[in-house]
Amino acid sequence: MTYDLRFIKDVFRKHYGTPDALYASPGRINLIGEHTDYNGGFVLPGAIDKGITLAIKTNGTDKIRVFSLDYEEAVEFALTGADKPVQLWARYIFGIVREIQKRGKTVGGFDAAFYGDVPLGAGLSSSAALESAFVFALNDRYGLGIDPFECAKIGQATEHNYVGVKCGIMDQFASLFGKKGHLIRLDCRSLEYRYVPFHPVGYRLVLINSCVKHELVNNPYNNRREACEAVAAAIRKRHPEVELLRDATFAMLEEVKAEISNENYARAGFVIGEVQRLLDVCDALGKDDYVTVGRKMYETHSGLSKLYEVSCEELDFLNDLAKKYGVTGSRIMGGGFGGCTINLVEEAKYNAFISGAVIDYQAKFHIKPEVYDVVISDGARKME
Ligand code: GLA
Repeated sequence: MTYDLRFIKDVFRKHYGTPDALYASPGRINLIGEHTDYNGGFVLPGAIDKGITLAIKTNGTDKIRVFSLDYEEAVEFALTGADKPVQLWARYIFGIVREIQKRGKTVGGFDAAFYGDVPLGAGLSSSAALESAFVFALNDRYGLGIDPFECAKIGQATEHNYVGVKCGIMDQFASLFGKKGHLIRLDCRSLEYRYVPFHPVGYRLVLINSCVKHELVNNPYNNRREACEAVAAAIRKRHPEVELLRDATFAMLEEVKAEISNENYARAGFVIGEVQRLLDVCDALGKDDYVTVGRKMYETHSGLSKLYEVSCEELDFLNDLAKKYGVTGSRIMGGGFGGCTINLVEEAKYNAFISGAVIDYQAKFHIKPEVYDVVISDGARKME
């Protein structure tokens, strides 16, 4: 059902008349480089063939009216004013509009309708798809001239200021800059990026959704970020050049070991290792060495589970299943605490892995996992 334009037009028509334009914006995968973005490190995401389809029309008023097909709910809010909508999904749109306005740009009232097929809570960045769809569409409709880097930052600022997640830039960047058949090697500090062709001959990339999302108290994502920043600050006292953990080495981490908690020592160790693992994977991709790519993925999983502690029983089980079925590489993908594993599987082992993993997982947790083949696709765009 991805990007069904006739369908979204019909939905729009029922509520608001004929749309001016249609847009699409995808979710993302990330091959490796997890929890490195807010540490100024590298990531290796790609946009996927699942996303948000949006129909929009300027309405000449000072009201914004949006209908979400997924929630079957319409929300209205004013062009100015601080009253956030109560619905979380609408707060993303509210945030995008306010962040655009903060940058001195003017948008008018509009009507919009959208639906999405990025599974929620799966670590595939459904929220970035939504943010990018709106920032891209408004930038285009109102001729705002905001460059795509700033569009990504507007999405990120929306998470920070209107949703309370202090995320990095990876998801929004991937959703806006995605390119069919390519991963994006992004330096999250300088925002320099390079497209890396990704056609692993003889292999398939597949996601297994654990279909659990453990909503934990005390915002563990923000808490991981704070831990990293605290360790970087401790190192900076001796090495002023260390702005973020991306600049730190294992030797520097050892120097401050006595001054930081064991937990923070483990967290930072994961990040420093992960920055290097990503560079190793990029080298291996250049040589079509998927065995090394896969080994690094397993290392990342182990680090995310034991050092960074963002895994859960279900994801560790899926990772063990990957090993059991001879999968080349497998790991948790995204923020963690549920969602998907990403798996690099030899073609010849694919069927046995998928059917076996689904049965084994279901037998253990009584939840049917979902399976998505990854199709690396284009980023946010105008459709009509
Ligand atoms: C979430 C965040 C990203 C990134 C990942 C972990 O998806 O939105 O910025 O930090 O987690 O790599």
